[in-house]
Amino acid sequence: MRAVEDFRNLHAEAVEWRRHLHQYPELGYRVHNTSRFVAEKLASFGINHIETGIAETGVVAAIQGNGGDGPTIGLRADMDALPIAEATNKTWASKVPGKMHACGHDGHTAMLLGAAKYLVATRNFKGTAVLIFQPAEEDGQGAERMVLEGLMDRFGISQVFGMHNLPGIDVGKFGIRDGSIMAALDEFDIVVKGKGGHAATPHMTIDPVVVGAQIIVGLQTLVSRNTDPTDALVISITKFKASEAYHVIPDRVVLGGTVRSVSPTLRDFTERQLNVCAENIAQAFGAEIEFNHRRLEPLTFNHTQGTNLALAAARGLVGDESVDDKIKPLMVSEDFAYMLRARPGAFIFLGNGPTAGLHNPAYDFDDEGLPYGIGYWVNLVETALAA
Ligand code: NI
Repeated sequence: MRAVEDFRNLHAEAVEWRRHLHQYPELGYRVHNTSRFVAEKLASFGINHIETGIAETGVVAAIQGNGGDGPTIGLRADMDALPIAEATNKTWASKVPGKMHACGHDGHTAMLLGAAKYLVATRNFKGTAVLIFQPAEEDGQGAERMVLEGLMDRFGISQVFGMHNLPGIDVGKFGIRDGSIMAALDEFDIVVKGKGGHAATPHMTIDPVVVGAQIIVGLQTLVSRNTDPTDALVISITKFKASEAYHVIPDRVVLGGTVRSVSPTLRDFTERQLNVCAENIAQAFGAEIEFNHRRLEPLTFNHTQGTNLALAAARGLVGDESVDDKIKPLMVSEDFAYMLRARPGAFIFLGNGPTAGLHNPAYDFDDEGLPYGIGYWVNLVETALAA
């Protein structure tokens, strides 16, 4: 097990890569320059098994250890940025108007590159480490697409690991938990169909605005009265489209919102009860509803064996006291969930200090975190694939 000091000599170079990537952010699958940069760096380290063009711009590299035959594990970094105008005033701020690495994926890419450079030079493990550089995390599609294009089978991956920086945790500290670590993401629409008319004669109408308002209030009870208070569930209604006019009661209104859940049971419950609850409230007022529900991203679920390996790697790097093994699940979602559905493994958070939050124009990836991320990956490989 190696301590973070063993990776200090890679720091300056990793900062250089990270700040270069930060200045030229690209979105979604169109991360062509980032992808080329990654592939060129990997080749310059002496890695000879590099595949490009997986999920359009994904890059995957395999490094064999010197310890003989063994299993293959996958390490994943995401490469895409966000359509946000940067407000950090850093000298390395984005040079592309309206685009910014506001989620630190530039840092994730630099950390996995640093680990690649170290692993190919040392190869102190058995089996194979597969480095996965993924496009299109932010729109929630890249990981699933890499899996659908055969990533796990083609490279023989038996366990897969992911990492994300997290503002609010000190740099050099890690957070993880066994089981659900990030929420499943759903969206829904409810069309309330009443009977429109003049606002001065409401008795001649079935006012869908009032019915919609009752539905919004009623749905709050799915969390407050139907869910175990120690379970996490979020239902947010974020859209309410009614009439544009002051004196017209519309025929219909449209409500929309999102559900974040960390258990499959609660997810099923919510999908069913949103419909039942809205339908019955509408019926009480003589209105009808149309309900549409979409499951967008699965729950990010850490497996026990993978979590234990991740814990060992992080504790070996920074000591037990700097690793929280029971952080609360985050109610945002992460498309690495698709990789964890395809193979067991774990997702861990690395502290990014007291910066602005993820997806904030003032967010700033802390370069002091780079050796910690590099060291975590190396320790994970040398632990999971101990020669
Ligand atoms: Ni992110």
